[in-house]
Amino acid sequence: MRREVAGQARGVWDSFRGGHAAARALAVADSRSLVRSLFLASAVRLEVLPAMRTPRPIAALVDQLRCTRPDRLVAWLSVGVELGELGCRDDRYGVRGRRARALADGDPVLHAHYRSMLDYQAGVYADLATLLRDGPDEGRPDLREHASVIAQVSLAAAPFVVPFLARVVGEVSPTAALDAGCGTGVYVRALLDADPSLEVDGVDVAPDVVADARAGLARDGLSGRAQLFVGDLRDWSAPAGRRYGLVTLLNDIYYFRESERAALYERLATMLDAGGELVLVTMARTGSIAAAHLHLMLRCQAGAASLPDAADVVADLVHAGYAVVEQQALVPTEPFVGVRARPAR
Ligand SMILES: C[S@@+](CC[C@H](N)C(=O)[O-])C[C@H]1O[C@@H](n2cnc3c(N)ncnc32)[C@H](O)[C@@H]1O
Repeated sequence: MRREVAGQARGVWDSFRGGHAAARALAVADSRSLVRSLFLASAVRLEVLPAMRTPRPIAALVDQLRCTRPDRLVAWLSVGVELGELGCRDDRYGVRGRRARALADGDPVLHAHYRSMLDYQAGVYADLATLLRDGPDEGRPDLREHASVIAQVSLAAAPFVVPFLARVVGEVSPTAALDAGCGTGVYVRALLDADPSLEVDGVDVAPDVVADARAGLARDGLSGRAQLFVGDLRDWSAPAGRRYGLVTLLNDIYYFRESERAALYERLATMLDAGGELVLVTMARTGSIAAAHLHLMLRCQAGAASLPDAADVVADLVHAGYAVVEQQALVPTEPFVGVRARPAR
């Protein structure tokens, strides 16, 4: 026993002696986080966790996944067990860790977070050498191919954005609002909730995203006060005669080229009532790992999307003829800003 411990101590010592000991220890810790993220992302893709709220025997999982390689399935499940995300008792596997349980319960934010990692985020880093040599109009088709997950990822900001919007609605008292680039419709709902007499239109370029958002509003009996349209904000026009007291552009501006943004603000100004406001929220480019990562994801897309800095947003709004009436940091840990502006006519 003493010899075994001595041998292990020697191995630990030798493995760190030759290189950068502290860096190697950090890399081990990093790889645990990476394996956990990859494991959970693959579990989300397999859609296997909800059924595992009740522990299931391997045969049931083989059936559910139409698995022809139970040896691989068992190896994958063992990763989950080692991570503490799964438990295994009497040859039955069930969810155990906090993240796996939240995913099994259908948490939409976590679901999108893990899904996005495998669907498109890892690819940017894996294919960077090619992406760095792309032509000016080339890039990843993430927005087109993963619109639904992309729309859901931004739900993480909702707890910070919803109170901001509710305050703006209280101060501006619009009779109609437009949510431009409405995604899942989370803020269409927030606007409807903020004022029971408010009518809300939403528009988004992704037909599947709009179909899901419409179905959700219909399910909750909100279709009478909300209309959603499929359209590209670059050329979409509001229904004839429709003007808005409030236009919101939430987590969307970074999908427009820098050179297009002032023109977009000008278009949106034409849809506003006299005294109406444009409310924009966005992650800003500098100030956190998440912001830098998102900026890279956007830069590598076709269409040269990019995060703006807050000063860029203000400069473009002023260029488009607005007066900025408020600028606020909305999230304590991230450079996530809310800006209110009125056409200065
Ligand atoms: C990150 S999501 C944000 C969705 C929603 N505003 C939110 O905060 O939850 C960006 C949305 O912008 C939409 N979008 C991107 N470019 C657009 C365009 N040119 N016209 C309309 N919608 C667009 C995408 O389809 C996507 O649903």
